[in-house]
Amino acid sequence: MFNQNRKEKLIIIDFGSQVTKLIARRIREIGVFSEVLTTNEIKKLKNFSNIGGIILSGGPSTVTKKKYIDIPKKIFSKGIPILGICYGLQLIVKTFGGKVETKKKRREFGRAILFKKQNSNLTKDFYENSKQLVWMSHQDAVIKLPKGFKKIASTNESKLTIIENTKKKIFGVQFHPEVTHTKAGKKIFENFVYSVCKFKKQLKAKSELKRLISEIKSKVKKDKVICALSGGVDSSVVALLINKAIRKNLICIMVDTGLMRKNEFKYTYNIFKKKYKLNVKLINASNIYFKQLKSVNDPEKKRKIIGKLFIRIFEKEAKKYKNIKYLAQGTLYPDIIESKSATGSKSSKIKSHHNVGGLPKKMKLKLIEPLKDFFKDEVRTIGKSLGLVNSIRKKHPFPGPGLAIRIIGNVTLQKVKILQEADYIFINELYKHNLYHKIWQAYAGLLPIKTVGVMGDSRTYEYTCLLRAVISQDGMTADYFNFSKDFLSKISNKIVNGVPGINRVVYDITSKPPSTIELE
Ligand code: XMP
Repeated sequence: MFNQNRKEKLIIIDFGSQVTKLIARRIREIGVFSEVLTTNEIKKLKNFSNIGGIILSGGPSTVTKKKYIDIPKKIFSKGIPILGICYGLQLIVKTFGGKVETKKKRREFGRAILFKKQNSNLTKDFYENSKQLVWMSHQDAVIKLPKGFKKIASTNESKLTIIENTKKKIFGVQFHPEVTHTKAGKKIFENFVYSVCKFKKQLKAKSELKRLISEIKSKVKKDKVICALSGGVDSSVVALLINKAIRKNLICIMVDTGLMRKNEFKYTYNIFKKKYKLNVKLINASNIYFKQLKSVNDPEKKRKIIGKLFIRIFEKEAKKYKNIKYLAQGTLYPDIIESKSATGSKSSKIKSHHNVGGLPKKMKLKLIEPLKDFFKDEVRTIGKSLGLVNSIRKKHPFPGPGLAIRIIGNVTLQKVKILQEADYIFINELYKHNLYHKIWQAYAGLLPIKTVGVMGDSRTYEYTCLLRAVISQDGMTADYFNFSKDFLSKISNKIVNGVPGINRVVYDITSKPPSTIELE
């Protein structure tokens, strides 16, 4: 993947934990590039010469059963430092002849206090008064050390919480240093990466710009690239980046679905066309979107219709240009991790996300994904180096199917107009009160249930507007934002007074899970 030009990389082997992505995130935060591999990928790997360290993730398997997820034994004998986390620890113990047992009564979930037993390179500056708060989630525990290993730390429940084989540079921790509930978890990764593996600090996103541009240049050469520009952070950064590398050979297509926020489409178009002078082609397709969405109530059907239509329109437009060889996409690193699965089994599908995933196969184009090694905040940093305006660079995420999934039930032009006005008021007030950047994502939704109200002396019978504002790290989990009562009252007044068609405003106070961020 991205380490072709770099001498060393850190490999994370994914055994299927929900938080493997966080391990990659933490390693990146401390300045080293890592690559997440499934157990199948590691089995096929032949060249280990550029691997400077390996982390074994947690996972749902158990080494106490006959069948468990394993990796080739040779990985443990290559002299590469290894850190096992939770299942990773248990696998190390099993591999080297120790014992792991399922503890029915003494399971540990949540916070625990870890007590230092011995000094270790892994735990340098980790403790406070020889103790530390850690986060546990396990039923299996190590009950007998393998030969050559020693105990480094314990909790009251599991005696062998950190273990180490100094000679082989193999470590195991039962807790999860990657989650923020483990107080000094970052220190464990820093120690492993810098003191044990001896990595050198690698480049940060900002200084990656030059490399990215020259890679695009040498890959694309004189060929043409097409990209779908939505005005979201990812596609905007991709467009600016590729434009820097190949200028007019980049063709950007903007499809107006009629399902964007108020004024957003025009605003984005003007910025890219006039400010950045990109080669942007605009397609007004709102009529066909509304026609096809007419009378469609089912959320998944809506998503499918919008996704398919997008592909059709984009494909038709692309055919008008000759010699296009590449399709640029704003795929990010978490997308790459999420598309992999440790066991090959598919996790349950909550929503079909709309991105242009179906395009490359259909159009026989080669993919170019310059952001595939980066996390969202790094993409924002790259955007800054490219001079991307803050209004786009710091914009909240917006879903591909747009307002269609923020209107419950069938979508009509009239409903979209009502929603756009309410949303506009809400978002402007967030900016005015300096709240916008404290929130991960905020929007107004339309619940097309009519209720009775009274305005002046007249009875009203109108729709309900739902406000949603959440805080989140990555959109995977989220909590509602705690607005003041005054702020909520103000918004409610402004929306009901300013938007005909709405006579009631409600604020959504569910977290994710059990809800999702979007309504459909
Ligand atoms: P949910 O609703 O699943 O959303 O909690 C999590 C994050 O994903 C965004 N989202 C989408 N983004 N295409 C996208 O590009 C989609 O189809 C889509 N659906 C949800 C959502 O806005 C939130 O940030």
